[in-house]
Amino acid sequence: MSMQAPDLPDDLEQAILDLKRERRALLLAHYYQESEVQDLADVVGDSLALARAAQGADCDVIAFAGVHFMAETAKILNPDKPVVVPDLDAGCSLADGCPPDEFEKFCAEHPDAAVLTYINSSAEVKARSDLICTSSNAVKMTEHFAGRPLVFAPDRHLARFVAKQTGRDDLIVWPGACVVHELFSAQGLEKLRMQHPDAEVLAHPECDQAVLDQADFIASTTGIIDRACQEPEREAIVATEDGVFHEIWKRVPGKKLIQAPGMDESCECNRCPFMRLNTLEKLYLCLRDLTPQVDVPEPVRVRALRPIEKMLELS
Ligand code: 13P
Ligand code: SF4
Repeated sequence: MSMQAPDLPDDLEQAILDLKRERRALLLAHYYQESEVQDLADVVGDSLALARAAQGADCDVIAFAGVHFMAETAKILNPDKPVVVPDLDAGCSLADGCPPDEFEKFCAEHPDAAVLTYINSSAEVKARSDLICTSSNAVKMTEHFAGRPLVFAPDRHLARFVAKQTGRDDLIVWPGACVVHELFSAQGLEKLRMQHPDAEVLAHPECDQAVLDQADFIASTTGIIDRACQEPEREAIVATEDGVFHEIWKRVPGKKLIQAPGMDESCECNRCPFMRLNTLEKLYLCLRDLTPQVDVPEPVRVRALRPIEKMLELS
């Protein structure tokens, strides 16, 4: 039996713009989205900027082109609005690698510790947290707990970066990792740096230490983009998903960018397989049919809202 192809208009971009207007929908997109999706968005940003945009959303519908935890955060902040996503399977290895029941046990083993959780986590895990952070404010959010024992979850690489920046060697770390950033090759990067000695190396803190050791600048996607645009003539080697190239080239056309090499050069392992599930076709369909939607049970939502709002206040 063959699957029926969905009924799609010839000009998908225009159809999406029309649907956005008709539905009073706000389209939020992360920098790891395909460039044609970024170009249709009302706000393109890193996870902090997108959470901020969701918090102040003046619209009837939110369409989230990103991954599940980002759309969940938007829903937690907007319980009365439908939050639609192009593909419900767009997850995240960090969120998936921290199951709420195991996280509960982990926290229970450290009853005196406060809990600081990276936004790349499920609503249930956020609900068990005192404060949320993103890669752009993780250091500042950690400093908020100076002098107190602290659980940091679920990214061990971000935790190690934060520990170095704050001098806190006592963080109680959930040992998760991002399948995309962990696969940059430190050896490959070393070789590439020798071939491009003047290039600046920009890296996301989700990378392994051996990669971060070679970085001139470590920051969130927004931080990497802003930095790359500061010196238009200088070549940059970028250790994050290459979706960020689109925004850099919009601001600085012709900027020389090289993605840091992966462990396996024959695959596109440093493209987020979850983010890239979202296509223009699926975006059109979710806006047309208002499905799939992201939902968060109300008792979980209420508990998860508190640490998210606190982060937005503090950052
Ligand atoms: P940013 O907060 O830098 O956008 O990072 C989100 C993410 O998922 C990185 O892999
Ligand atoms: Fe999650 Fe990594 Fe994809 Fe970011 S790049 S959404 S951390 S799997």
